Amino acid sequence: MNAFEQNPGEEFRNSILTSIPMGLLAKPADQADAVMWLCSDQARTVTGDSAGRRGYPADKQTSRPGAAGAAPHKSSRTSQRSTYMTAHNLDFGGRVAIVTGAGQGMGRAHAKMLASRGARVVVNDLNADNATSAVAEITAGGGTAVADTNNVVTGAETIVQSAIDAWGQLDVVVNNAGINAFGTFWEMDRDTWWRVFDVTVKGVVEVSRAAMPHLIASGTGRLINISSNGLMGVPLDSAYSAGKAAVWGLSIGLAAEAREVGVQVTTLMPVAWTPMTRDAFQNPVVQEAMKENVPPEAVSAFVTYLAHQDTTTYADTFEIAGVAAGRVAIAGMERVDAVAATPEAWVEQAEALTKDGEMRVFHNASESFRDQMVHLAPELDSVLPKDAANVERV
Ligand SMILES: NC(=O)c1ccc[n+]([C@@H]2O[C@H](COP(=O)([O-])OP(=O)(O)OC[C@H]3O[C@@H](n4cnc5c(N)ncnc54)[C@H](O)[C@@H]3O)[C@@H](O)[C@H]2O)c1
Repeated sequence: MNAFEQNPGEEFRNSILTSIPMGLLAKPADQADAVMWLCSDQARTVTGDSAGRRGYPADKQTSRPGAAGAAPHKSSRTSQRSTYMTAHNLDFGGRVAIVTGAGQGMGRAHAKMLASRGARVVVNDLNADNATSAVAEITAGGGTAVADTNNVVTGAETIVQSAIDAWGQLDVVVNNAGINAFGTFWEMDRDTWWRVFDVTVKGVVEVSRAAMPHLIASGTGRLINISSNGLMGVPLDSAYSAGKAAVWGLSIGLAAEAREVGVQVTTLMPVAWTPMTRDAFQNPVVQEAMKENVPPEAVSAFVTYLAHQDTTTYADTFEIAGVAAGRVAIAGMERVDAVAATPEAWVEQAEALTKDGEMRVFHNASESFRDQMVHLAPELDSVLPKDAANVERV
């Protein structure tokens, strides 16, 4: 049984179906949510029984304007629904979100899930047909969204203005738009290389800069930047790797100053089966593994969790694939000492320098800097400030 096949017993579910007034729930998706929640252990904890409606989230008991209804997972397999079910739907209470590149793939899934929890969403995508159809899908489900077809590189101010014009506020930005192109670094067409880098980096920078004043005004602004484990190195993909590394650096760098003004910045390295991965991964075994285990909606669940006003993180980076998320940190191996500051002394240490071993996590530049200094001169431990760059981790 994989992670998507946890299923409450058929008999138990049927007993619930006959015991709750399903007519009070507005939409089939709400009803499905209700059943799944009532089947959960959490429901039993809250209600004290297996089938009562007591304790079920109020917003699911009657029709709620602005909610598209929960759509936990697109698959028709009931077994997959349960994986995405939460006891209490996170309520975005009319918060306003921009999701860039939301016409297809993960961005579309993020926009839909945020809208299903009551957020009003700007669906940005260069592809106008896809942006429009995503908005139509959200509104057909009872959600609220507008389409925006500006390029994240050149139209950032207008994208942000779309949110302000429509609803007068902006609380969440998911910088998701991205492109990729493969080719040998030194042979690849120069414009193609820079286009990938620009959409990846400049798009995030421009949208984030335009959004910051509004995210600050929100009081609980959330900036979620989509990077990639591609930054760890993918052959023939240097523009993408470089760009995604820059997004990571930008996010970590920005997190400290953004925290001071109430904006939370998080970086994600997602993996999902989307048009982008369909084009990138030709191996049928890999394709099947991805189709089965990493639907875009799973990443959306994590994005929606992070985007919520009650979720607290600081300068964190997460890998997210399916129902598994892992925090990614910068870590360093045990330091290797040369007997003297000469090139020849490093020749002696060539093997030690490249050996894997014990690692320490560096949460910020101060930690790394201080660690280096104290390694060289232990007496500095008592005099160097703990937080030389004033970015103490919360
Ligand atoms: N799919 C994965 O496994 C994976 C892994 C790591 C990172 N990512 C990143 O996640 C994000 C979403 O990936 P996906 O797989 O859903 O991709 P996708 O190709 O399916 O969707 C990307 C969307 O972005 C839009 N877009 C591209 N350039 C744009 C621009 N300049 N302005 C506005 N919209 C633009 C495209 O039209 C498209 O709809 C990307 O940033 C990607 O690099 C994806």
